[in-house]
Amino acid sequence: MNRTIAWMFTLVLIALLTACGGSNQNASSQSQSAEQLPAALLDTSISSKGDPKRGKDLFGPCAACHTTSKEVLVGPGLAGLFSAKGPVLPNGVDYNGLLPNGKERSEANIAEWIRTGGTGRIGYMPTHNLTDQEMADLMAYLRTLK
Ligand code: HEC
Repeated sequence: MNRTIAWMFTLVLIALLTACGGSNQNASSQSQSAEQLPAALLDTSISSKGDPKRGKDLFGPCAACHTTSKEVLVGPGLAGLFSAKGPVLPNGVDYNGLLPNGKERSEANIAEWIRTGGTGRIGYMPTHNLTDQEMADLMAYLRTLK
């Protein structure tokens, strides 16, 4: 009787350990993929207030110069904008993951760049006058481009 209980206890223990091991692995691989993004990019304080469907409609003027893929038009394709390295840049230009104005890749700085525009090593981007809600919608849409 005692032996049976001890044996069952061992089985339960093994089952528990296996289950824990499994979920721990999941947890660590999840946090690993999150850690690959710079902290600034994990901050969704602008995009979380936006609607990507409305943002898609607001992309019209941007499409004159940007694709939503990795293909370069006048400016870089905006796929990967929210990755650590940023979008694919043409002709050997490398901003080391920073924005064309040298600022950190955060939602706030991307929003500022979209509003002010500017000149980088690729070319000139004009200013865009967007309300805060429009910016949130656009940002939510830009986050879907991968
Ligand atoms: C008249 C052309 C033009 C229009 C319109 C335009 N852009 Fe740009 N954009 C550029 C160019 C050129 C660059 C590259 C600047 C550089 O690096 O030299 C750029 C760069 C950017 C970047 C920085 C990419 C990076 O390196 O991380 C973002 C983000 C961006 N544009 C978003 C937008 C959005 C959103 C819109 C629409 C609201 C828009 N642009 C409209 C020309 C344009």
